[in-house]
Amino acid sequence: MLRSRIVGTGSAVPKKVVTNHDLEGLVDTTDAWITSRTGISERRIAVNEPCSELASRAGKAALKAADVSPKDLDLIVVGTVTPEMTFPSTACLVQAHLGVRPGATAFDVSAACSGFVYALDVADKFVKAGAHKKALVIGVDQFSRIVDWKDRSTCVLFGDGAGAIVLSAEKGARGVLSCHTHSDGRHWEMLYANGPHQSSHFDHGHHKSPYLRMHGNETFKIAVRTMGSAITEAMEANGLKGEDIDLLIPHQANLRIINAIKDRLKLPDEKLYVNLDRYGNTSAGSIPLALDEAVREGRLKENDTVLFVAFGGGFTWASAVARW
Ligand code: UT7
Repeated sequence: MLRSRIVGTGSAVPKKVVTNHDLEGLVDTTDAWITSRTGISERRIAVNEPCSELASRAGKAALKAADVSPKDLDLIVVGTVTPEMTFPSTACLVQAHLGVRPGATAFDVSAACSGFVYALDVADKFVKAGAHKKALVIGVDQFSRIVDWKDRSTCVLFGDGAGAIVLSAEKGARGVLSCHTHSDGRHWEMLYANGPHQSSHFDHGHHKSPYLRMHGNETFKIAVRTMGSAITEAMEANGLKGEDIDLLIPHQANLRIINAIKDRLKLPDEKLYVNLDRYGNTSAGSIPLALDEAVREGRLKENDTVLFVAFGGGFTWASAVARW
C-alpha cells in the first residue's frame, strides 16, 4: 500500500525572545499569572521576517534533513492564517524562495491552529492517490501581527514560529496511518480575527476589531473535550490503546489543556512533547515545531507510533497518527 512517510523535519523561530517579565511592562499582567494559567514563560516575535521567510527556513531545514532536493518536490501545502499577502499563497512564495521546480502544486490551507494537521491530511491524500511523490508540508503563523497588544487576555498567549515535514510516497508499514479533520462553524465567534480587510457584513460592534478575539474560558473547555474525542477517534481508527502511543504531540496552547489530555489517557510525561514554555501558542506552527524538536532530541525511533492532535479557531480540530 502506498503511504506518505515523514522523511525529514525542520523548524524556524524568530530570534527575538519576549519573556513574561517583558510583557509585565506592556499590559497589566504578571509572570506568575501567565506561568500558572498557561505554562508559558517566553515566546518568539518576528521582526521584519514575514511568514513566508519563516516558512521557507523551516522548509529548507526539513529538505536538508530528508536529503531531498527542492527540484524533486512536486507539492507544497502550507497551513497558515497569517500570510503576509492576501495572494499569492505562502506556499507559492515558499516555492520561489526555495527554488522548487516551476509547475509543482502549491497552495495554503486555512484552519487556524489546526492548520498543520489539515495541511498534512490534504498532502497525505494527494500522495496516497499517486498524484504527487514528494511533498513539503508546513505549519506557520505570526500571531504577533494580529493580536491586540493592549489585550492582556490574549497577547500573552501567542508567539511566532514555523515547522515543516517532507513526505515521500513509499510502500510499506511506515508513514501516515490516519488523518481526521473536523470543524464546527457555529462557534466561530469564540475565536476569530477579522483582519485588516474587513467584510462589510461585520461592519458594526466588536467585529470591527481587526485583532484576534477569544473567549478564553469557553474555548478552553471545548478544546479539552474536543481534543480528547479527536484522540479517541484516532486511536480507535488504528486499533491503538494508550500504551501503544510512543509520543503524543498536542497543539501547544495551554499546559492545563495538555495535562488534562495526559491524565485522561494516563500517559507518562515521557510520552508527551511539550515546548510551549519557550514558544507559547504558535498556532499552525506549534505541532511541526514540537515534532522537529522531538526528532532532534532523539525522542522518536523507527516504527514508533506518534499521534498529533490539534484544535483551533473555526472551531477546527484534527488528529493524525504516523508510524515513524
Ligand atoms: O490555540 C487555540 C485554542 N486556544 C486555547 O485553547 C486557549 C484556551 N483558553 C485558555 O488557555 C485560558 O482560558 C486562558 C489562559 C486564556 C485564560 O485562563 P482562565 O483560567 O480561563 O482565565 P479567565 O479567562 O477565566 O480569567 C481569569 C482572570 C480574570 O480576572 P477576573 O475576572 O477573575 O477578575 C481575567 O481578567 O484572570 C484575568 N486575566 C489576567 N490576569 C493577569 C486574564 N488575562 C490575564 C493576564 N494577566 N494576562
